[in-house]
Amino acid sequence: MAKMNFGGVVEDVVTKEEFPLEKAREILKDETIAVIGYGIQGPGQAGNLRDNGFNVIVGQRQGKTYDKAVADGWVPGKTLFSIEEAAEKGTIICMLLSDAGQIAVWPKLKKYLTKGKTLYYSHGFAINWQDRTGVVPPEDVDVVMVAPKGSGTSLRTMFLEGRGLNCSYAIYQDATGKAEEKCIAFGIGIGAGYLFQTTFHKEATSDLTGERGSLMGAIEGLFEAQYEVLRSHGHSPSEAFNETVEELTQSLAPLFGEKGMDWMYANCSTTAQRGALDWAPRFKAAIKPVMEWLYLSVENGTEAQISIDKNSLPDYREKLNAELQAMHDMEMWRAAETVRQLRPENN
Ligand SMILES: NC(=O)c1ccc[n+]([C@@H]2O[C@H](COP(=O)([O-])OP(=O)(O)OC[C@H]3O[C@@H](n4cnc5c(N)ncnc54)[C@H](OP(=O)(O)O)[C@@H]3O)[C@@H](O)[C@H]2O)c1
Repeated sequence: MAKMNFGGVVEDVVTKEEFPLEKAREILKDETIAVIGYGIQGPGQAGNLRDNGFNVIVGQRQGKTYDKAVADGWVPGKTLFSIEEAAEKGTIICMLLSDAGQIAVWPKLKKYLTKGKTLYYSHGFAINWQDRTGVVPPEDVDVVMVAPKGSGTSLRTMFLEGRGLNCSYAIYQDATGKAEEKCIAFGIGIGAGYLFQTTFHKEATSDLTGERGSLMGAIEGLFEAQYEVLRSHGHSPSEAFNETVEELTQSLAPLFGEKGMDWMYANCSTTAQRGALDWAPRFKAAIKPVMEWLYLSVENGTEAQISIDKNSLPDYREKLNAELQAMHDMEMWRAAETVRQLRPENN
């Protein structure tokens, strides 16, 4: 572990320097890693582990996703199995089904969690809300988590580019006394950037807050509000979109991603800086009560229950697709397509 100072708060983190890949391979050399589910995280984690020399098999039900696994080089009967067969063969069972899928298959899978095996998650959801999900692991297995802080697609592409995606890790149950070293070895194996410690509870609540908040929900709400105000005052779609989204994603976000918000501000006009410094606290004051409301709704299980109920419906995929289509069809995101076409690199 390395001690790192995060804005005055010291945290223990793990990187490949303290925990090299060779050590991770040594710790997991006798394990069969069964990646259950080949959606978004499945291909990223299974692919990185395989390329890093770990013993990996995939468990996936028949259908389009199974065919994708075959296309990615997983061999039926050798490295690709049904969910139950993979769970039987695996010593580390990785629950990378959708959160609703994990609830649905749990009654079939739990019998394969025999003494000394490891149950692995990439989200605290199933365990943290176990009163709602019904996922209660047997006491003689290790239960661990490595949660990549980004899409499984990024985990894979960053790995192929020689970079790593930051991940949190947590131990829920240590039956063998080796849960932590196995968990960290797994994180190094999937190509984590740095690993920081959390609990299943903290990961689940921060993750649901983040995606409903600044990472996805709040940012779309902010964009829509500003775009609509500009349009209602006679600004063209091109102007409204550039001032709301394009300048942020193409010019400003890379600057603060690279060197911090003050540095981005310092590279804008004094007019922009003055106004942004004045308006940031007003937005914060308006938004903070909604953030508190959101956190409460996550913390008391409301958000988890909504997600379980909606995503367990037989037509959940069609319903989600219809909502995404409505977003796709909004003028703002249609304007976005034209703006993208007009980017110099696309001409
Ligand atoms: N998405 C991310 O990048 C991301 C990031 C960090 C953590 N996580 C966590 O990683 C885990 C996996 O997430 P994900 O986004 O990769 O999941 P996902 O893409 O939604 O998972 C889909 C997988 O679950 C299977 N599945 C769904 N319902 C099923 C059912 N009833 N029976 C059997 N299989 C079922 C799908 O099979 P079919 O295709 O056949 O339906 C597919 O293999 C979750 O705990 C998630 O919170 C995800």
